Amino acid sequence: MRAAHLVKYGPSATAFEIRDIEKPKPAPDQVLIQVEAFGLNFADVMARLGLYKGAPPIPTVLGYDVVGRIAVCGENVEHLQEGDRVTALTRFGGYAEYAVAEKEVVYKIPENLPPGVAVALATQYSTAYFLSHHMANLQENDKVLIHAAAGGVGTALTQMALHKKCIVFGTCSSPEKIAYLRTNGVQYPLNYKQNDFGEAVRKIIGKSGLDVIFDPMGGKSVKKGYRLLGAGGRIVSYGVSSMNKTNSIFGKLRVLAQFGVYHPVQFLSQSKGMIGVNMLKLAEEHPEKVAGAMKSVIHLTEQGILEPHVGGEYPITELAQAHSFLESRKSMGKIVVGW
Ligand SMILES: NC(=O)c1ccc[n+]([C@@H]2O[C@H](COP(=O)([O-])OP(=O)(O)OC[C@H]3O[C@@H](n4cnc5c(N)ncnc54)[C@H](OP(=O)(O)O)[C@@H]3O)[C@@H](O)[C@H]2O)c1
Repeated sequence: MRAAHLVKYGPSATAFEIRDIEKPKPAPDQVLIQVEAFGLNFADVMARLGLYKGAPPIPTVLGYDVVGRIAVCGENVEHLQEGDRVTALTRFGGYAEYAVAEKEVVYKIPENLPPGVAVALATQYSTAYFLSHHMANLQENDKVLIHAAAGGVGTALTQMALHKKCIVFGTCSSPEKIAYLRTNGVQYPLNYKQNDFGEAVRKIIGKSGLDVIFDPMGGKSVKKGYRLLGAGGRIVSYGVSSMNKTNSIFGKLRVLAQFGVYHPVQFLSQSKGMIGVNMLKLAEEHPEKVAGAMKSVIHLTEQGILEPHVGGEYPITELAQAHSFLESRKSMGKIVVGW
């Protein structure tokens, strides 16, 4: 089978090579999926730049989410069968014609579900569901700030917060994205390139505080966000995309220092909290929680409550362009690559 290997860290044009390799064999609790398309995630860009510590050494096959048909079921797999059309989480190995996935994170999907929507549900929507329902526990009328609101996870968080009847503030970096945020229902879209987001939010909320902030950037935006929280407020930190500009140890330390220093007594006296989420860690210890999130988002999409947006569909021959597009920060919603 063919698989797109990451062979060199750096620009996308020279990073990937299609190689022929053996089809993987599923273990008893796994399935083998014939991949129709795979999704891109921001973590893939970090891995390509050599900035993702959790990625295997090169040459390697990236990829967290796939859509396709089950080719082989492991002997312990009972709820699925060969030929089922599914979306699945893969822990790497998704950029291939066949990929294996653990049975808990493989979901049967309707025949007519577009591939981009299917993979958005597997990663970005499941992540957003876990962040908003389990960790932040959004409540009606919560004032919620969503950073990178035009991105894959940001789009999903916005739809979930609106479904919970929250008041949504969303940040992004261009007028095109501001327009997209409005169509996705964000009540207060903020372009942080034009105005400091902290000052812009403060102007709107006055002396009151925000209830929830979702932060995938890390560093100084977390520090600034923490100051905007009111009593009972919580900031959910789930990414460090601001680290993608630097490969030096000093650059990384600078971003880490920019988060600020906190003491639990401070959380106690101010009644504010900070939460970190890593879905891979969660999947390792509690695959049933990831599976529960996946099941919920598929159900909510079937009901028309969630509407994943596909911001780019590329053939495998244009994998490099798809990666550049995600890296360029111009993408909105999910990017998908088909075989
Ligand atoms: N913790 C977890 O388990 C988990 C799971 C899934 C995703 N994530 C994280 O969630 C974030 C969103 O992932 P996604 O796949 O949906 O990507 P995405 O949001 O579609 O793309 C990333 C967006 O982040 C914004 N951004 C802000 N600062 C940036 C920077 N310094 N460099 C690049 N982009 C920056 C950009 O939007 P603007 O320019 O408009 O700000 C960009 O379009 C990523 O940080 C990812 O690592 C974490």
